[in-house]
Amino acid sequence: MTQARDIGDAGRFDPVAAHDKAAAQRREGFRLLKYKRFVLPLAGIGLLIPLMGITGVLLAHYPAYTDTLFTALLLFTASGLGLVYFLFKALYGHVLTPVWRLKDWVARIRSGDHEARLTEHGNDEFDGLSHDLNAIGQFLETLSHNLDEEVRRQTERIAQKTNSLQVLYDVAASLNASRDLKDLLTRFLYTMRDIVNAHAGTVRLLTDNNQMELVASIGLDDEIVERERMVPVQRCLCGSALSEGEVLFQQDLKPCTQFVGRPMLEDTSLEMIAVPLQYRGKNLGVYNLFVNRAEFEARDEVKALFTSIGRHLGMAIEKAHLDNEAKRLSIMQERNALAHELHDSLAQTLASLRFQTSMLDETVDQQSMEDIHSEIQQIKGGLDEAYTELRELLAHFRAPMNARGLLPALEDLIGTFRKQTGMHILLQKEWESTRLPGNMEMQVLRIVQEALANIRKHSRAHTVRVMLKCNNEGQYHVLVEDDGVGMSRPAFTGHPGEHIGLSIMQERARYLGGELRIESEESEGTRVQLSFRHPDPNTDRHNQRFALI
Ligand SMILES: Nc1ncnc2c1ncn2[C@@H]1O[C@H](COP(=O)(O)OP(=O)(O)OP(=O)(O)O)[C@@H](O)[C@H]1O
Ligand SMILES: [Mg+2]
Repeated sequence: MTQARDIGDAGRFDPVAAHDKAAAQRREGFRLLKYKRFVLPLAGIGLLIPLMGITGVLLAHYPAYTDTLFTALLLFTASGLGLVYFLFKALYGHVLTPVWRLKDWVARIRSGDHEARLTEHGNDEFDGLSHDLNAIGQFLETLSHNLDEEVRRQTERIAQKTNSLQVLYDVAASLNASRDLKDLLTRFLYTMRDIVNAHAGTVRLLTDNNQMELVASIGLDDEIVERERMVPVQRCLCGSALSEGEVLFQQDLKPCTQFVGRPMLEDTSLEMIAVPLQYRGKNLGVYNLFVNRAEFEARDEVKALFTSIGRHLGMAIEKAHLDNEAKRLSIMQERNALAHELHDSLAQTLASLRFQTSMLDETVDQQSMEDIHSEIQQIKGGLDEAYTELRELLAHFRAPMNARGLLPALEDLIGTFRKQTGMHILLQKEWESTRLPGNMEMQVLRIVQEALANIRKHSRAHTVRVMLKCNNEGQYHVLVEDDGVGMSRPAFTGHPGEHIGLSIMQERARYLGGELRIESEESEGTRVQLSFRHPDPNTDRHNQRFALI
């Protein structure tokens, strides 16, 4: 049996073969032991000892043969010593020495020296054992070599993963530190340049009309950037990367030179990588890096990394878009709220002042100086009010609300209305004990204020009724009705900046989570009815919006 069979083709230890071989060698060992080194000397010694005994006895009984017997005894003794010498030599050379070598081998193997081997002399009783132990050693060596190789491969993989994670971390950090989209993309390109030794890079974003807009670039001259500002998606590799959703490599920059009309970079030995930018399956654009050709040999791993980076960047781009949209919406909301406040506060006061001034102008000839003086005082009061409202708006962007709450504010409003219009106005209140949150009370006040302003401006009414009601279930009702000319059809739209009072009332009712109904017929007067609930399951959400209004 050869060593190759023990170890097997794949370098694996074959226990069955080793067992067969050991048995054969054991038999051989016994045979050798039996006939060769140990049995013959032992048999000789065994024979000599009785011979020596018999010779000793004869020597004692036959003095006549003393010389002969003594000589024989000496001869036997010398032969015995010789045999003892051979026995000892055999034991030393073929048992003790191999055992010491074996101990030494075990020590080397245990210390990790898997290349340690036992010498096989070919005529030794321990040769069979040595042969098997060497096979085990060989097996251990192969195993440890395979393990080392596997550990090296795994370490390399872990190092690569760590590197990829580091790259992703760097990219994420650069994306998070950005102020706006352009800044974000430029920072990204600089980070990528440092990570992959890129010579240049671009980020192109997909536009609504299926073009690619070059939004950020590094390492390209201004003329190229200008020429490449807007290109059709189907034009080149970038478009293919985008439509296929895959990282593509282009080893030759000639196609780019053809499209642009001149070399994009001085170093024409570079290659270009195009990576799609996607977010939740939506194509957003593509980023390109111009790198040395030999830079990326393990392309599959690099592709996976670049794809991940593309997804990160896609997410950041989408987030930047959403941030912009949220900012735009918030500005619109602020402007809307400001317009509402201006309409319901300052504009109302100014309109009422204009009304009073024209009344004064019409009646100035028929009135006594005292009446005129009183009217002028009212106009002065109105101007003071307008001025205060303006200051309040400028200072806090909050309309003045009576610190005592909605009801006192309404009473003040109705008192002023009565004085200014001379109409008969009635206030019915059935919610004294209730106190709504300040922002809700403000909405109710503004709705009543606009309803009264409309009555003053358009109704020509004699009597006005304002009723506030609230039951234990938190159901609130506000009614403002007049007996004026009425309107044929409530108009919720108007030219920009005109006739917007009713739509603002509607919006305020919506913010309250309630409903505003207007009932009116020509010559039948007008009823404005507001109803809402508080507390309302959605109130908290609404309150957050009220803070802006
Ligand atoms: N109580 C009312 N009686 C009669 N007509 C009314 C009454 N309230 C509203 N209207 C009619 O509805 C129209 C729309 O009212 P709205 O409050 O939206 O605009 P406005 O009062 O004309 O202007 P703004 O409120 O923007 O200063 C008014 O122009 C008016 O014709
Ligand atoms: Mg109005």
